[in-house]
Amino acid sequence: MKTENEIGRESIDVHSFARPTEAVAKHLDLDIAVNFDQKIISGRATYQIENLTQTDQIVFDAKGLQIEKVFLGDSLTETNFRLGKEEKFLGQPLLIDIRPETKSVTIQYRTTPEAAALQWLTPQQTAGKKHPFLFTQSQAILARTWIPIQDSPGIRITYSATIKVPKELLAVMSAENPQEKNNTGEYKFFMRQPIPSYLMALSVGDLVFEPIGEKTGIYAEPATIKAAAYEFAEMDQMLTAAESLYGRYRWDRYDLLVLPPSFPFGGMENPRLTFVTPTVLAKDRSLTSLIAHELAHSWSGNLVTNGTWNDFWLNEGFTVYFERRIMEELYGKEYADMLQVLGFQDLQHTLDDMEKKDDTRLKLDLEGRDPDDGLTEIAYEKGNAFLLNIEKTVGRERFDQFLNKYFQTFAFKSTNTDRFLEFLRTELIKGDEQIAGKINIDGWVYSPGLPEEHVVPSSARFAQVEQTYKSWEGGTPATALTTKDWSSHEWLHFIRMMPEKLTQQQLTELDKAFGFTNSGNSEVLAAWFLHAIRNNYTAADQALDNFLTTVGRRKFLVPLYKELLKTPQGKKKAQAIYAKARPNYHAVSTGTIDEMLK
Ligand code: BES
Ligand code: ZN
Repeated sequence: MKTENEIGRESIDVHSFARPTEAVAKHLDLDIAVNFDQKIISGRATYQIENLTQTDQIVFDAKGLQIEKVFLGDSLTETNFRLGKEEKFLGQPLLIDIRPETKSVTIQYRTTPEAAALQWLTPQQTAGKKHPFLFTQSQAILARTWIPIQDSPGIRITYSATIKVPKELLAVMSAENPQEKNNTGEYKFFMRQPIPSYLMALSVGDLVFEPIGEKTGIYAEPATIKAAAYEFAEMDQMLTAAESLYGRYRWDRYDLLVLPPSFPFGGMENPRLTFVTPTVLAKDRSLTSLIAHELAHSWSGNLVTNGTWNDFWLNEGFTVYFERRIMEELYGKEYADMLQVLGFQDLQHTLDDMEKKDDTRLKLDLEGRDPDDGLTEIAYEKGNAFLLNIEKTVGRERFDQFLNKYFQTFAFKSTNTDRFLEFLRTELIKGDEQIAGKINIDGWVYSPGLPEEHVVPSSARFAQVEQTYKSWEGGTPATALTTKDWSSHEWLHFIRMMPEKLTQQQLTELDKAFGFTNSGNSEVLAAWFLHAIRNNYTAADQALDNFLTTVGRRKFLVPLYKELLKTPQGKKKAQAIYAKARPNYHAVSTGTIDEMLK
């Protein structure tokens, strides 16, 4: 077994300035105040460090931070520091003079209002409309915009934090959390398990807590908590199912935080406290596979972590596979099959659309680029497809044993593609050339596209949708179609089957029969709007405008703006909407859409 440092040397992280093989942070005590008026976080980050090579310098990552002073040791002796040259995407190295015997470093700093990880919401942008709201999004390399930190997924720290916030608000973190407000506005947090920096998370707002099970619960604004508690009532069963699949949950509690609609992602697996978009509050529990996904990250990602962003598929591919296993446990194979098919469709679109074919390999090369470039269906769905191929080759039972051992062996460690493949060879393939041939590591991991021998998922419930769709195509009026008991997945499949060109009459007929334009399901809405835009179905204009100005989830925004931009008149519409909507989007989303609209 190699030591952590040897692994560190093997997998140099091109997205961090830190040099963890020389001097590395082990524990963080964060002591900060949150100032909503100035949109600034300020305070001190104290690190316990290990100086492995008796070096006279430790390097942290910083982006747009004002570093005021740096001190060494318990005596807080001031030391020299320097911010190095700014590099695109990465920010700057923070180089701090230390001594061979230095045990701790204290950095006094403040953020700037532009900090990309932070979104400061006005009361108007929240559900309750009375109080401001703040949340962070650190993945992939934005932790360095709110904390000076060794911002590499190959480095793990434990942490404690003291956070001062306005008295009317509650603070929560990716840590042990309070369940109600106190009257001081000062909150203390502990994360006792070592985590990578991208899992540092904080949110501050008018939050209340509602328990679901003994170890599970939900934080949300008072206006949202009831709907959320209904929607996610099964989170406890999900946790039980996950534990029965891949071993004990290692983070004690599992809670959810429901954010305002500007949250740029569907979910973010911050340990102990998944951050989730309110766009999954569909009122019928139809979009909860997203919770299964974020919960699964408690094993794949948070427990066993991709060592660099080139190994991102280790986080997301495993998590998609695990997510669907949880859904299968809870709702049966027919349900999970629908998710597999939808995911496979997404993968095929990505493979067709992606210009840079090298980015369709599982192992990526993101040097010199934003690690966000790796955030594609390749990591998620090709990663999952690879694991399905292994499962098919060795059988589910053996594969599950293997995965259990994998999570146990690498628990609380960062790993990388090579390490995983080595483990796969020694634990599963064991020199069997027939199995090796079928698993085809080279084809999946290092080659672009999809190897010929892949599982093509199919779904019995979708077969029925396809029949129904054909019968509509054949002339059956929409109102006469059998769509009883369809979940949003079936509807999504139905909408995706519709051809690019549709007449006004067809769109009106479908809309009248099924109420797509006014659907309360964000996935259905987003898929329907694509057709509406493409075919200039103006009856959906208002709803589209409303959706784009309230929802900040990038996965929905990007395809919709992209579709609008295809025609000159659509472009005008996009610009008008974006002018209104932009203040509601997180930097993660504006970064992408600015680029598209410029
Ligand atoms: N960890 C990701 C989100 C992420 C990845 C943020 C990379 C920043 C950089 C999260 O687990 C995720 O995958 N979210 C998905 C939902 C999921 C069901 C596919 C999302 O936000 O859409
Ligand atoms: Zn994920």
